[in-house]
Amino acid sequence: MDKYEKRVLYTGIVLMAIFLGAILYSSKVMGDDLPECLPGDALAYDKGEVTQLDEKTYQIKYIAKMWAFEPRVVEIPRGAEVDIFLTSKDVVHGFLIENTTVNMMAVYGALNKITYRFDKPGTYRIVCHEYCGVGHQDMAGVIIVK
Ligand code: CUA
Repeated sequence: MDKYEKRVLYTGIVLMAIFLGAILYSSKVMGDDLPECLPGDALAYDKGEVTQLDEKTYQIKYIAKMWAFEPRVVEIPRGAEVDIFLTSKDVVHGFLIENTTVNMMAVYGALNKITYRFDKPGTYRIVCHEYCGVGHQDMAGVIIVK
């Protein structure tokens, strides 16, 4: 093997180790939740809804569809820990909550989940960041943290 090929190979291995280390550090040390894909039979909802589980724990079931997120506006108190579920009713959509680490894809027939704690009050815009058709640029939602 050529010495330059070996360098590229070793550089790739080192970079992969660094990236994997960064993911493990963010999830284990910093406590960031990583998105998970749940089995299809967990898809027990067909409309978006917010459920309060206890004083500071919420569950939001999001549906992405052309070209809106359901529910569109959610209000929660500061410090709320939220289990966010996400699925799509049609094509693939993106789901990014600005100024957070929440970034998922909404896929038809699949259910994704992430847990996030909203410590800072404010208005968090949700945008679709995957081109999904003519109404893509208008596809947005909002989480208001009081
Ligand atoms: Cu939904 Cu872009």
